[in-house]
Formats: sequence, C-alpha cells, structure tokens
Amino acid sequence: MKYFITTYGCQMNVHESEKIAGMLVDIGYESASSVEDADVIVFNTCCIRDTAEKRAYGNIGALKSLKRANPDKIIAVVGCMTQQKGGAEALSLKFPFVDIILGTNSLDKLPILVQDKRSRRASIAVSEDPTVDLGLELPIYRTSGTNAWINIMYGCNNFCTYCIVPYVRGRERSRSISDVIRDVKQVLSEGYKEITLLGQNVDSYGNDLKDGTSFAALLKEISSLPGKFRLRFMTSHPKDFSREVVDVIAASRNICHNIHLPIQSGSNEILRRMNRKYTVEQYLEIVDYIKEKMPDVGITSDIMIGFPGETEEDFLSTCDLVRKVRFSNAFTFVYSPRKGTPAANMEQIPADIKKSRITRLVNLQNDITKELSDEYLGKVYEILVEDVNPKYPGTVCGRTDSGRLVTIKGETSLIGSFIDVKITKSRSASLFGEILSKGE
Ligand code: SAH
Ligand code: SF4
Ligand code: F3S
Repeated sequence: MKYFITTYGCQMNVHESEKIAGMLVDIGYESASSVEDADVIVFNTCCIRDTAEKRAYGNIGALKSLKRANPDKIIAVVGCMTQQKGGAEALSLKFPFVDIILGTNSLDKLPILVQDKRSRRASIAVSEDPTVDLGLELPIYRTSGTNAWINIMYGCNNFCTYCIVPYVRGRERSRSISDVIRDVKQVLSEGYKEITLLGQNVDSYGNDLKDGTSFAALLKEISSLPGKFRLRFMTSHPKDFSREVVDVIAASRNICHNIHLPIQSGSNEILRRMNRKYTVEQYLEIVDYIKEKMPDVGITSDIMIGFPGETEEDFLSTCDLVRKVRFSNAFTFVYSPRKGTPAANMEQIPADIKKSRITRLVNLQNDITKELSDEYLGKVYEILVEDVNPKYPGTVCGRTDSGRLVTIKGETSLIGSFIDVKITKSRSASLFGEILSKGE
C-alpha cells in the first residue's frame, strides 16, 4: 500500500507532513511516486494567503474523477485550512468525495481512520482546543536530506492584524527543553548534519513554561552538544529577538550566521496597525547589533506590501529600509485579506497599486541580492553539501553558513559532508564554486 502527500505552506507544515508520512509508514505504507500510484492521498493545507488556498482547492478538485474511477482510494485533507472557522465543513461540502478531514491538533487520528473503513465515513476531526497538542510524540519519516526539522513550540500569541496563524494554530505551547534535546541527540545519532529549530516565534520559546527556560538557554545547550553539525532556527520576531540570543550565536561554533527576521513594513504607522509592536528604529538597532557581532551574517526577511491604508509614502519607506538593511534575500508578499482577522475589515488597496508595488520591491531586492552575491566572488566558504542541483547535471549544492546556495561540480557521494569551496561565479541569488578541500 502506498501514500502520496502534497504539502502547502511553511516549514512547520513540511515537517508535519514528515510526521504524517511517519504514521503511515508505521502502519505499513510506503511512498508513492504519484497520486495515481497511491492508495492514500493526503493534502496538507495552508491558509496564510488566498493563493495558497486556491492552489489546494484546485488540486483537491482535480482528484474527483480519479476517486470516481477508484472509489477505494482514500483522500484526506488536513492542516491549517481545516482549522479555520467553518473551514472543515466548507471543505466537506465542496469536496464530498474527500474521506477524511483532520485539523492540526488531530493528526494522530489519521492511521486509525485510514485503517478502519467504518469510522472513516464522513470523518471530520478538527479540535479547536489550543491546549490539545497531539502532534508531539508522532513517528517521523524525515524527507529533508541532510537537514532535520525539530519543533520547539507550536502556535502563536501575537495576533498581527493581517495573520490567520493564531486562529488556526492556537496559543503558544513550548515543548520541554528535555524533549527537544532528546530529539536533537536522536537526529545527530542518525547522522543529520544540520538541525533547524521550528516555531512561529522562537524568541518567546519557554515563556509559557514559567521555569526560566529561554530560547538563548536552549540554543546554548544544543550548540554545546558534541560532533560537527549546523544549527539554524526560524522564525524570529523583531520585538522579541534579544541581544542575548545574538551573543549566544556569535560565541557559538555551530549556530549559523543566518538570521530570518521578518520586518513586514518599513513604515511605523503600518507596523503599528499590523500590531507588530516594534518600530523601524528598533528593528534597525537590532540589525546593527547583529552586524556588529557577526559581520559575515546573512539577514533575510519577510516583507509585505498592500496592507490596508498603505500609502505610496509608506511603501517608499519600506524601500528605504530594504536599501538600509541590505537583506541577503527576502520573501515578498502581497497582502491577502484573511476572513476573521482585523485587517480584513479595513479599507483595501486596489489590485493595480499592489501589483506595481510588489514589482518595484522585487526588482529592488533582486538588485541588492545580486550586489551581495558579487561580494562572495573569489572568497572561500565552508558549505554543507545538501543535494544534487537538478538544473545542472553532474553538480551538487549546499549552503554557506550565511545561507547562500552554492553549486559545485561533484559526485553525489559528497552529500552530507562539509567542504571548502572557492566562489568563482555569481548569478543573482545563486553562487557557483569549486572544491578546495573535503572536510568532515
Ligand atoms: N511567524 C512568522 C511567519 C508567519 S507566516 C512571522 O511572524 O514572521 C510567513 C509570512 O507570511 C509572514 O511573515 C508575512 O509576511 C506573510 N503573511 C502572513 N499573513 C499574510 C497575509 N494575510 N497576506 C500576505 N502575506 C501574509
Ligand atoms: Fe502571524 Fe504575527 Fe504570529 Fe507571525 S507573529 S505567525 S505573522 S500572528
Ligand atoms: Fe500556512 Fe499554517 Fe504555516 S497557515 S504558513 S501552513 S502555520
């Protein structure tokens, strides 16, 4: 029996799909190469933007005839779309051929529902109880090569006015430091060379445990574990990202100098109405401190245009900030109204203005990314070889400590090893190099 999983959304979802795969492998399933080849088809959905929802709707809808021809195939829809108010009901009305609908707090029910045809019928299990956290102890079938994702916390307390995440993921719940360390030791013993700690706001890790645990303390403890490995984390929130964390990273031998610090907007008025709880000046202060402690750092960001009420002046302030910080890369988004969030009821910006702003922002960031890429030329960096680069036959690729992707000529046997590479060519965000020496 085989399964096929389609994942939308963030790393949190990517990792949850590894847990879904783990549960299915546990009951005897193996991975299929296509939906046609699969007995169980799972859609792990995201509702952060309209585009993510539309894509899922399109792909689920496309399975109607496959299901009609093969009624024994099991189709499951899980993830954030099902956790929206009325979301599960809307999905089951729109797609009556879907067998299983499960919320993010009920994922552990999947194996039983897959195995037991009777309980499967019209099964919708979506728990709104944010204190329920059933996803903690699930078996994991890791699919991310040299990198292992590890959740350190779930949920979000911030309620940025544009964002649906706190409504679908509930309040912040930190895992205990001992559970996290146990998982880290486990993946290191399995040979993973990179660990990425996951949470919507990792800097508030431990706040709910009320025992003095902090993100800085967690980082320190993990980074002092023996062996050669890299430690990454995401996502940080500028209002909580502390100097103490910067100091821990700067003093460590293995926490990557690559910080993802979403700014969202460069206008204080927009940041206020987004409920982000920091100002542009405070953001720049943290960035200055990071750059002072780690001159080789790669800072990346999320930037949104078209938030309700954003004026041309606000937008130009965002461009100014992008020029000041010089992000090594940025994820740029067009604001998408989310039902039930405060910003959805504010006056919206016309689509043509949004289009013009996103184009200008993307061009600006591309220019900066390209300029920063050129600065790598001729220098030597250690990279962790992660995969083949399918675009260029006979090559493999990996990232610098600062998070830049480098492609080199080489054999797949290099995957999983650290090597020194001299950068010989840059093409916008991509770097190309040659091997100088093979490390560990
Ligand atoms: N917890 C993280 C990431 C959340 S989602 C953080 O606070 O930064 C990832 C990104 O999606 C956000 O940083 C934001 O830029 C974007 N996003 C969230 N809601 C959105 C919406 N309604 N429309 C467009 N982009 C959105
Ligand atoms: Fe959404 Fe804000 Fe929470 Fe990030 S911090 S998940 S943007 S509410
Ligand atoms: Fe999307 Fe849910 Fe992540 S809404 S961005 S998959 S937490």
